[in-house]
Amino acid sequence: MMEIGRFQIDLEMRNLRRDGEVVRLGSRAFDILAVVASAAGRLVTKDELMNAVWPDTIVEENNIQVHLSALRKVLGPDRDLILTVPGRGYQLLQRKKNALPGEANSQVSLARRLPPPKSGLLPRAAEVELIRAMLRHAHVLTLAGAGGIGKTQLAIEAARHSAAQFADPVCFVELAALTTHESVLCAIAESCGLVLPGTQTDVTRVAAALAGKPRLLLLDNAEHVVGAVAQIADALVAGNERLRVLVTSREPLRIMAETVFRVDPLDVPPPDASDEEILACSAVNLFLLRANSLQETVATGSAELRLVGEICRRLDGMPLAIELAAARVVALGVEGVYRRLDDRMAILAGGYRTALPRHQTLRATFDWSFALLDPVTRAVFRRLALFSGTFCFESMCAVVCDEEHTMANAIGGITELVAKSLVSVQFVGAAAKYRLSESTRAYALEQLKAEGELREIVARNARYVSRCVQARLSGDRRDSENQAAGAHDLQPTLDDARVAFDWVFSADGDPRTGIELASNLADALLDAGLFEECCARAAQAVDALERQPSGTVSAASEQRVRAALDAASRAVREPLPALALTQRAPNPVPKKQEKHEPHEPHAPAVAAMAPPACFITT
Ligand SMILES: Nc1ncnc2c1ncn2[C@@H]1O[C@H](COP(=O)(O)OP(=O)(O)OP(=O)(O)O)[C@@H](O)[C@H]1O
Ligand SMILES: [Mg+2]
Repeated sequence: MMEIGRFQIDLEMRNLRRDGEVVRLGSRAFDILAVVASAAGRLVTKDELMNAVWPDTIVEENNIQVHLSALRKVLGPDRDLILTVPGRGYQLLQRKKNALPGEANSQVSLARRLPPPKSGLLPRAAEVELIRAMLRHAHVLTLAGAGGIGKTQLAIEAARHSAAQFADPVCFVELAALTTHESVLCAIAESCGLVLPGTQTDVTRVAAALAGKPRLLLLDNAEHVVGAVAQIADALVAGNERLRVLVTSREPLRIMAETVFRVDPLDVPPPDASDEEILACSAVNLFLLRANSLQETVATGSAELRLVGEICRRLDGMPLAIELAAARVVALGVEGVYRRLDDRMAILAGGYRTALPRHQTLRATFDWSFALLDPVTRAVFRRLALFSGTFCFESMCAVVCDEEHTMANAIGGITELVAKSLVSVQFVGAAAKYRLSESTRAYALEQLKAEGELREIVARNARYVSRCVQARLSGDRRDSENQAAGAHDLQPTLDDARVAFDWVFSADGDPRTGIELASNLADALLDAGLFEECCARAAQAVDALERQPSGTVSAASEQRVRAALDAASRAVREPLPALALTQRAPNPVPKKQEKHEPHEPHAPAVAAMAPPACFITT
């Protein structure tokens, strides 16, 4: 017999009782209850539930909702004990059966304490010390940062080191499984040893009960209930000078009492680091520690160490991803892991059996964040997958904005993504520059492909970057100094054009859309004296064009690419590839075509720049 609130579940008799009396419940609803209850607090995924309840039939997902809502009706005031964790599944919340209605009392036995110290953690002494100091003044201190970056571990360590500043032991509340304002408040009350009835818990009563002694409350993993946590934390610290609330969340609470501490990734070595410098990086130490705990040793000879450094850098110093990568060394070796990083969503799986479900795989960590985005922000997010480095607001608008998504959507979306730690922002002068970590980008790309938008976004990006390169080539400086600093002087760069070129001439692109970019990039490379690269890219473009149906490609652009190839080939004193010598019929040859001499400044043939899409989209 299992218990859930005031109910008893008899698995043998297949019935549900309330205070001993059998309660009517449909058999599917009973099955759902039995599966979730048997998991004893573990999260049960939708698929798991479907397989258990309908083992031989394929049924629509909304069947779960139908039977679940019947079940919740029967559970009445105990309905919130079956939690829906958005995008993940269902979970049974344990509530103390004998919780008495009424005032707070001192049953500290119910209080939740800090988890015991975890072995194998790298010390983050400087951050711990800073947080400890900040807790003296900050009423609500939020450790914010990307998923798996180490917020929870850092908060627990900081709370442990700060405990002496408080009269009572630290109260720890794990929020990951909670979904409602009420369940968050109940969990806080319980963790502080206050016994209040689930359905009548009131934040003012909890606040009153916490008044008095200095106390530290650690609310862990708040992002999916950020609104509820914001309201509750605000109410709890109002008028209570001695209470400190330490929160971990992928997104700040946005309340006046809050101070935000951004959790940084572990250090990674720069590309040209020496062996000593690589070994001094915390990310590398974590990788070696985890990999070596699973097998004899990872050699620390120079070549292998460099690969480890590279892996850590490409995983942006994120501890969870580094752990998952290190675990793969047993099967793939360091080199195998390094080579398969492009497929990181597939290979970075198989986390610790004891880890949270969202820490079992890299994809699950991003699923958790993605499930919390609204549809517009999801669209903005996936379209940013094209940017491998930093990008500016104008570039973002060029790929995001269209008839459906306005510039206001783009602004709202990027604001959300920055807040939720999916995009980082830094300021170069007055201009914002954005960046997705390589792992975030890999996830966004999966979403972009799944939505069937990749080809269109690649084409948009190619058109935009092409116009920018063209503007730069023509020396167009229409804008005022300030505007230029914000846009044209910083963007586009040759790197943007290279990335856009690679995309548009890849299997996911479209050479016909890319030809104009290819002609502008080839001219820009000639200008920059990068003849070998110009040769390689122009030859690639010409080769791709050869495979297009005749008459489908802009003749003028094709001619310019061929001319650039011709000029660059002569500059590197290589024989001209046969491909470039012929212009296909029936494409007309442009009337006037400039020849570019390698030693003369290059004068590209460009039209006036059309305004970038972002300037005209509203
Ligand atoms: N300092 C550290 N040393 C070693 N491993 C660490 C460290 N910090 C984090 N990790 C590893 O990374 C995993 C994820 O860390 P943590 O749970 O703190 O991330 P998080 O930022 O709270 O993630 P989420 O946003 O999903 O809650 C941990 O389970 C741990 O195994
Ligand atoms: Mg956490």
